[in-house]
Amino acid sequence: MAKKKIFSGIQATGNLHLGNYLGAIRNWVKLQADYDNYFCVVDLHTITVPQDPEVLRANIREVAGLLFASGLDADNSVVFVQSHVRAHSELAWILNCITPMGWLHRMTQFKEKSEKQKDEVSIGLFDYPVLQAADILLYDADLVPVGEDQKQHIELCRDIAQRFNYRYGDLFVLPDAYIAEVGGRVMGLSNPEKKMSKSEEKKDDAIFLLDSPDQIRAKVKRATTDSMREICFDDNRPGINNLLTIYQLLTEKSKAAIVEYFSTKSYKDLKEELAEVIAESLRPLQERYRELTGEKGYLDQKLDEGARLADEAAERKLKAVQDKIGLR
Ligand code: AMP
Ligand code: TRP
Repeated sequence: MAKKKIFSGIQATGNLHLGNYLGAIRNWVKLQADYDNYFCVVDLHTITVPQDPEVLRANIREVAGLLFASGLDADNSVVFVQSHVRAHSELAWILNCITPMGWLHRMTQFKEKSEKQKDEVSIGLFDYPVLQAADILLYDADLVPVGEDQKQHIELCRDIAQRFNYRYGDLFVLPDAYIAEVGGRVMGLSNPEKKMSKSEEKKDDAIFLLDSPDQIRAKVKRATTDSMREICFDDNRPGINNLLTIYQLLTEKSKAAIVEYFSTKSYKDLKEELAEVIAESLRPLQERYRELTGEKGYLDQKLDEGARLADEAAERKLKAVQDKIGLR
């Protein structure tokens, strides 16, 4: 029986962090053997807010390198850069023509981002979720593993697919979001009321995947906690809850075992142990990253091969779309 298909994407912004890893990338690596997979560095999404060309070029490679270093492998997964496959832009245009603007006005990520951008808001930023729908629908993805913040975009993708199928006849697969029960929303270290994010002005808020052990120790040490002493999972104590959740995700121990283990320990002990767990978990990834980016031509060759395979699948689907709507 044919395997089900996965598609997911990640923006080409620098500083991938533990939230990206635990909320998305690590799940991609875990799922890849059981599915047909497409993982994409979504550089066309990245330019919906202003980017410096040199920085963007470097970030595309850094993110792709980190995906391979995290354990995505070419035997199971097609890893590629979005702009290398033209069908993404073309299908996005077609989907634009059937998507009501009102649907996009409801997107919370657009509301948040446009708030920050003020009068610089581009049409691309508004249209971002339609391009995301094109990404997913081109590959007939059944499942889209993402962090919780993307749930609304996947629901919109289903709505667009449904509208197309209704108008022109069944063509698109309706995808489901896959959001891990734990890890779908890793919170910031300095502000545990908000999700960990790349663009936080306060750099201490996120552990970056390429942080050194000393940087990790310093950030975890400064993480916001509270004035209590008991170490337990409690949604009303976001700081401690987040530290314990990260510990749980990385050690894969049960909550009960973790609470028992820390029952006689202090916040300071928890922070010290957590910093070591994070540093140890990231060490192999960082080593692989250095290896593969040190090998000349390795990344380009992998990405060329990924783009070739993705392009084949995407072109086929795009032609079927063109047939349906009368462009061919
Ligand atoms: P982005 O960097 O915005 O392209 O996000 C890449 C992936 O990481 C998406 O699936 C996001 O939902 C996920 N992600 C980003 N931040 C977090 C976070 N703090 N916790 C969990 N998942 C996250
Ligand atoms: N919008 C996603 C994010 O910010 C990235 C993305 C683009 C994506 N296209 C996608 C995720 C398709 C899943 C499927 O994280």
